[in-house]
Formats: sequence, structure tokens, C-alpha cells
Amino acid sequence: MDYEKRGLLPEVATIPSRPQRPRHPIRRSRVIRVVALGLLSFILLAQWQQLWHTERTAPRLSVSKLEADLATCKKLHTKPKDPAGHGRETNARYGDWKPTLIRNATIWTGEPVEGTSEADARAGKGWAWRQGDVLLERGLITKVEAKISSDSLPKDTIVYEAAGRQLTTGIIDMHSHAGVDPLPQLDGYADFNEASDNLTPWARAMDGFFPLDPQIEVIKSGGVTTSLVLPGSANNIGGEALLIKHAVGPKDGRPEISAEAMLADPERTWRYMKMACGENPKFLHGSLTSRPLTRQGESYEFRRAFEEARAMIQRQDDWCAKADSVGVENMDEYLPQTIALESLSAALRGQVHVNVHCYTIPDLEAMVDHTNEFAFQVRAFHHAHQTYLVPDILKRTWGGRFPSSALFADNMYYKTESYIGSKQAGKTLYDAGLTPVYVSDNPVLNAQHVVFEAAKAYHYGLPYHAAMASVTTAPADDLGMGHRLGKVKPGYDADVVVWDSDPLSVGATPVQVWIDGKEQFENPFELDKPIKEPMVPDAALAMSLDEAVEVESDIFFTGVKKVLVGDKDVEDSGDAGFNVSISKGQVTCVRDCAAEYEAAVSSGAKVIDLTNGYLHPAYVGFGGTLGLNEIDAETTTDNGLNPLHFSRAIDGLMLDGKKLQDAFKAGVTRAISAPLFTGRQTHHGTSVGFSTNAKNILDPDAVFAEDVGVHYTFNEAVRGQDSYSAAFGKLRDVLMATGGIEKDLLPYGEEAFLKRVIELGMPLALTIDSADQIATALRVKGDIDALNTGWPLRLVIVGGAEAHLVADELAAHDVGVILSPLQSYGDTWGARRALSGAPLTNGTNIDRLVEAGVTVGIGLREDMEVVSLAFAAGTAMRNSNGRIDERAAFDLVGRNILAMMNVDKQDGDHWVVSEDSPLEIGSRTRAVASGGKVTVFA
Ligand SMILES: *[C@@H]1O[C@H](CO)[C@@H](O)[C@H](O)[C@H]1NC(C)=O
Ligand SMILES: *[C@@H]1O[C@H](CO)[C@@H](O)[C@H](O)[C@H]1NC(C)=O
Ligand SMILES: *[C@@H]1O[C@H](CO)[C@@H](O)[C@H](O)[C@H]1NC(C)=O
Repeated sequence: MDYEKRGLLPEVATIPSRPQRPRHPIRRSRVIRVVALGLLSFILLAQWQQLWHTERTAPRLSVSKLEADLATCKKLHTKPKDPAGHGRETNARYGDWKPTLIRNATIWTGEPVEGTSEADARAGKGWAWRQGDVLLERGLITKVEAKISSDSLPKDTIVYEAAGRQLTTGIIDMHSHAGVDPLPQLDGYADFNEASDNLTPWARAMDGFFPLDPQIEVIKSGGVTTSLVLPGSANNIGGEALLIKHAVGPKDGRPEISAEAMLADPERTWRYMKMACGENPKFLHGSLTSRPLTRQGESYEFRRAFEEARAMIQRQDDWCAKADSVGVENMDEYLPQTIALESLSAALRGQVHVNVHCYTIPDLEAMVDHTNEFAFQVRAFHHAHQTYLVPDILKRTWGGRFPSSALFADNMYYKTESYIGSKQAGKTLYDAGLTPVYVSDNPVLNAQHVVFEAAKAYHYGLPYHAAMASVTTAPADDLGMGHRLGKVKPGYDADVVVWDSDPLSVGATPVQVWIDGKEQFENPFELDKPIKEPMVPDAALAMSLDEAVEVESDIFFTGVKKVLVGDKDVEDSGDAGFNVSISKGQVTCVRDCAAEYEAAVSSGAKVIDLTNGYLHPAYVGFGGTLGLNEIDAETTTDNGLNPLHFSRAIDGLMLDGKKLQDAFKAGVTRAISAPLFTGRQTHHGTSVGFSTNAKNILDPDAVFAEDVGVHYTFNEAVRGQDSYSAAFGKLRDVLMATGGIEKDLLPYGEEAFLKRVIELGMPLALTIDSADQIATALRVKGDIDALNTGWPLRLVIVGGAEAHLVADELAAHDVGVILSPLQSYGDTWGARRALSGAPLTNGTNIDRLVEAGVTVGIGLREDMEVVSLAFAAGTAMRNSNGRIDERAAFDLVGRNILAMMNVDKQDGDHWVVSEDSPLEIGSRTRAVASGGKVTVFA
């Protein structure tokens, strides 16, 4: 049935007649005439109905349902407005807790000083940290003033002394899977992606959200108070997201343990949806018989979904218009609605903030086309690694509002789509008038440290204020919550963090976090750090030093402040700095080098003037796939897996790729890599030690150690092949046999290397996270050492997420640990007892290990970490309560690894010159020396 046919029906059939009161006495003949006419009409009408209108005899529609449908029409046509902040009496999430005055804080309000023009603000003018007090009442920030007098406050006000520490709004992570992909990852709780179909706009992350995911609390301990929890990216349209605050259950001030109680906006003004372009949907859903097989198919999938939603909208709008004009009780059909199309229609109606995972130029271009064909906005492109190359495409997005780019700072080697990313992407986008936002994609990155992504963006050239905005005001705005979240300002939600140091500095850790004015940590652990002023933003970071030149001549550095190479002590100096001369890649003079200077000038040596120069050891990249893989997920760029064979990494070495070039520029001159066992973060075979700037394996300086150590893996990966008990048993048997029996061996076979392990002290490196399996490995070592073959087994634990639980035993057995990464976030079962650090735990893994006297290094869980090894070392130092000094920090990513792996250190050949400490945000690499050659960056 359609509307046109029904328009032909006689009005009389549908309009009920009103009862009429007779005005005059009625004549008889007239009565008869009327009765006869009535009879005739009745017969005619009956005929009519039989002929034309059979459904007229069907039961009438429910008037109350029709009225409800009409009310739905109103909702369908309501365009949400960003919920107001200012003017609220209370925050709807307020739970009757006491007011809090935070006194004497150094405040980042999220706004420039009043009167700053938009252009000036964008250019960085008017921004500053300001001294003052902040009052939290009724779930709101009610006052931010230089001095709030205690007399004016309610008597029960809690006073918190910030003692000058930095205070910001709660950090916002606009891309998280916390709660739908809980940690440790267990199949039973994996509910983040309804990948059963390519188009699942009807799926709702909220329906799979587990509030007791422990990671939600860990993330909050990093100052994150709000997260957009998105479905996964396996399908072109993944479904609806939910915006939560990280307060869970009664202990955090919520009335109950539920997703509902965690909604950042209880009124649900805006809805959020996830879509995804590119590799994931086509790989997961495409085949010769199912779409999408290619990006062309994806584009069609999107368009046909939008077309269907648009058709539904048309039918609904027509129904609503007709109901308005004829009266809803006269409708003989209910409002067309289906759950399948409801959310996508709402998106096209502008009620849902669309977030699209799109990396590449064709993906971005197609999606921007779709926005114009179907008239909807995209709030942000996520994983937007290539947006920095095509700002103009973004600016063509429908609706006049430029979408933001949700990015990682330097995580870009993981798939083809990310591989041409740039660390300068944030800066480039900002310069083009666009908005970078930094996100975690938790558990891809640990969202606890999402603010460090912004810190690195600043390090790579994004202005300081824009970096701060990228995890506060910018995502708040994208989420439509810009009047409530992202600023420290009266009328905003009272989500506040007091930090132990500048939030954009290495190791910055919250001292306390408030959500809606409720303190979140009852007895927070606090790191012992001096209270310092915030950083002074360095505009020079915007100029990247990318031009690399190998300098053959001697080099003379002036303005050096510290020398931390060789066995010389750390040397400090006054403001001017001292001098260092270099010849053939070796340091020939430090401090008083007048004669060298004369010689240098006359021989045409290069003189490089530094500001606050550091001469420090180069780093070692340990345990990743450097040299064995170029793009993590692209199998043809990889050496392959070794579940069946024990092989030598040296036989698979591939050099001169982007990963290695970037590693070298970041000061990582050497790497030690072992073949993979069954996947990344697993090892099986002997590792090779090589130079990251070698061109190929025949280069005489390419390899410094052909077989560094023998590697096995005892994490969950073992379970695909065998049981833990069988795998350890086999290792013990082989080692025992090797230790006891003389036999002819292939020179490079597994037994031959184990013979070296037993007889020559070659390191045996076992990749293990779980304390249980580390303990078993120590038992195996005990069994082997009891054979008295001459050498105690030189065991090294790689990974080591739970090593802190057996720290004393590791120390007693003299077994070192190469933490990969520095701080595990407990993402697997075997790592679930990782320590997340202050304010939740008293230190992290490394603190317990160093305290127990274990030798510790920092390795690579993922190759992307190679460009920020120095920051990892810096974090360990900053947050060690003084246990780890500067030199010890460098040792974590150099000497300690080489010592554990029994490699001759050759330190003199491997050094780096930086301006400002490379362990901190804001330094720059000026020269890298490796094997007697110096590369200078300008
Ligand atoms: C505020 O903090 C600063 C920095 O710690 C301190 O010097 C000052 O004495 C404090 N002022 C008050 C009033 O407590
Ligand atoms: C460093 O070299 C400069 C010449 O470039 C010289 O003027 C200065 O005195 C030297 N400084 C020291 C501490 O030797
Ligand atoms: C934290 O651990 C250290 C030992 O590393 C201990 O001295 C200190 O008392 C602990 N702090 C608290 C608050 O438990």
C-alpha cells in the first residue's frame, strides 16, 4: 500500500461524524426521505468497501501508538545542541559530596588570557600557566581565582594544598577500547567488535562494556578522566560508541556499577558512531564471494548503507508530514522504523557524531565524497596518518567544520597504511589550520600515558598550547562537550588533575584526580619529585633537523655541558659550556682543547656550536624485529616465523629500511634481534648484533656479533605449539643432554649453540612475562648449574612484566631482565600482575628490580618504541625516587643490555651529541657516531 492510493479514499470513511442535536421539530416525509437516503448511502458504502477498501474492515491502528509515533517524529527532527555548562546549578552526575578547595595550584585553564584574538591564540599568544585556587562544588568548577578566601566557603569544604603543583582539566582520550576489550585479554571478555557483518551500525559498544575492566582505573591513574569507547575497526560501519568518565561504582562516587552510571553526559545529548575504511574491513570481510574485497567495494558498502538510511529518513519524513496534515489518528500505518537502520539514519540526521578510522589518501578522499553525497559531518578521522599530506581533502568535508585528526605521536611502522606517517604530522596539520588530537587506541597504546603522546607531539614540533589542547579542549570540542569538558573554568565539570610535574614532561604522574568534584584516589602513592615550574615552551622545536650528513673530517663541538661516555665522570660546567674535539669518530679531547681547536680550524674541521650540549652513549635496540621486518603487519616485509626451526637471525638480516634509518636518527646505533617464534614479541633462535646504519650485510661494519645469544619464548605463544610444562621439559632435556654428552654437532645447529651456552657462557635469553614461568626458568637454571659444567647458565629474561614478584630470586641467581616494555600494562594473562605505578602502586617493576639488585635493561616490545628509547630511560629515572641517576638511565638502554648479552661494549665508537638532555622532552639530536663514522644533523 502506498500514500497515493490512500489519498483517493472517501473522506467520509475515515472521519467519524459528530453527534448533532436537532434544532427544529422534524417533518415525517423528511424523515422518510432521510432514512431512505441513509439506507442507500449505507448500501453504496458497503459496496465501496468491498470493492476498494477491504482493509477498512481490519482492526483500527492503536491511537496511543500513533501518538507515540508522532512524538518520535519530533525527536527525529530535533538537532542536538552541545550541552550547556555555564548556568547549571549542579552537574547531573553530582553525588552529594563535599566541596573541595584546591589551593595554590599552577593552573592551565585551557584558554588564553581574555581579549586574545583567535588568530593570536592559534599563533601561541596569551597562553600561560597561572597561579591560583580552584573551587569544586556540586560537581562543578565554581571558582578559579588568584586567591579564594576560606571565609567565603561552606564549613565542610575539604582543602587540598597543591603547593604550587600543576593543575589541568582531566585528560580526554577520544579513542579507547577500555571496557570492551578488557585487560588482561581473555576470550571471554573480548566484546569490542561485532565483526559478524561488514555493516553493523546497530551494534552498541555500551552493550559489551565491562565496568570492572581494571584498565579503566589504571587509565585514570594517568590523569585520563573521560574516554570515547569505540567499537573496533573490522567493519566499515562498526556501531555506536559511548562516552564515559573513569569513575566506577560507589567507591568512585557512582550510584552503581554500570555503564549507565559512567556516561559522561547522563542526558545523552550526542550519540557517537565508529566507521572504518581501508585494510581492516577488506581483509576481514573480503573474498571472491563477499564484499568488500577492495577499497572500491568498501566505498559501495558505505554508499549503499547510507542510501538505505536516507530512504528510511524519506519515508519517515513523509509519514510525519502527512500525520501533521491529516491528523495522526487518521494514519493507517505506523511510523516506519527499524532497529537495523535507526542509528545510521540518526547519523544522517545529524544527531550522531561520526568518527571514522581512515589512514590513507584514497580512504580519506572517498569518505569525504560520501559526506558530500549524503550530507553528514565527520567529527574526526582516526588513525589519520596520511591527513597531514592532504589538508585540502579534509577541508572539503561536508558541513563546513573541518574534521580533526586523531593520531599517535610516533607509532607508525605497524601496517602499510601507517608506514608513511610522520612524527611532524601534528605540527603540519596545525600549520594548515587543522586540529590534531592524540589518542591511545587502548590497548594498542596504554591509555594511562596518552598525555605522553601529546608531550611527544610537542617534542616533534607541535606548539606547546596546541599539544595541551590536543588531549583536552580539542577532543572536548569534537565530542560536542566543549562547554563541559576540557577547561578549568567556572561552569565546567569538576574533572581536575594535580600533577607531580609538567604534564608534557617525561614521567609526569598525577598526584590526585577529581571527577565531578569527587577525589578518586584514597591513599595515592606519590613520587618524590621536586616541585618545579612548568616548562618554557621552545619554539625552536618546530624546526626539524632532518638533513643528515656523514662528516669525514674532524669535528669540534663548543657549548657542551655534560659528557657521559666512556668511563669518564659526568662533567658539568657553567652556562657557556666547554669544548669537545672528535677525530675519526673518537673523542680526542674534552674541556681544555685550545690546541685541538687550532688544529681543527687549520685543518678545515667542522665546528658545531651547541646550546646545552650533551655527549652521551648511543642506544641499543634490543629484542624487537629490527633488521628482520620493515612493516610489522605486512608479512612479505618480514623474515617469517620459526615455530618448527631454530634459526640464526644473521641469516635473515634486511638492512637500510625506514625503521632502521629512524632508529639511527634517534641515536640507536646498534640493535640485537632474534628470529620470531610464532609472532611479534616472541623469539626462537640466535640473535644477531648489527649496526643500524649499515647498508647490507657485506658492509664490513654491519655485524658486530654473529650469534649474540640463544633465545626461546615461554609466554602464551608456547601454548599454540605445546604446553608450558612440555616446552620447559624439552629445554631442560636438551640442555642436560648437551651438558653431559660429547657428540659431533653441526656448527650452527641448535645443539651447537646450546653447547656454547653450557660450555662457553653464551647467554640464554628467554622471553617470559609471567612470574610463574620465570620461576620455572630459574629452577631449570638450578638443575643445569648443578651439573657443574664450568659456567653457571647465563640466563636473561626478556619481557619480564611480572619479574618484580621474583626480584629477590632473580638477584640471587644473578639473572638479568630486559624489560620489554619498561612498564607492561598487563595486557596478557601472563602479565596481569604488572605494576601500573603511582598513584596506584608504590613504583613499578623496574623500581623493585633495581632495589633488589637485578641488572635491568629496556628492550623493544614493538619496533616503534625504538625512536623513544631515551624517553623510556628518562621515565625510569624521573620516577625512580632517586634510585636511577642519569648515567644509570643511559645504561638501561645500552651498557646493561650489552653486559647481559655478553657483548664487548665498544662504547667509544658509539655516542650521540644532543642539545638538552635526551632523557627529557625538548632535546634535539645533533650528531650520531657509530663505528668510527659521525653523522651530523642540521
Ligand atoms: C604556593 O606554592 C609555592 C610553590 O611551591 C610556594 O612557594 C608558596 O609558598 C605557596 N604559597 C602558599 C600561600 O602556600
Ligand atoms: C671553546 O672553544 C672556543 C673557541 O670556539 C673558545 O673561545 C673557548 O674558550 C673554549 N672553551 C673552553 C672551556 O675551552
Ligand atoms: C614504597 O616502597 C619503598 C621501598 O621501595 C618503601 O621504602 C616505602 O615505604 C613505600 N612507600 C609506601 C607509602 O608504602
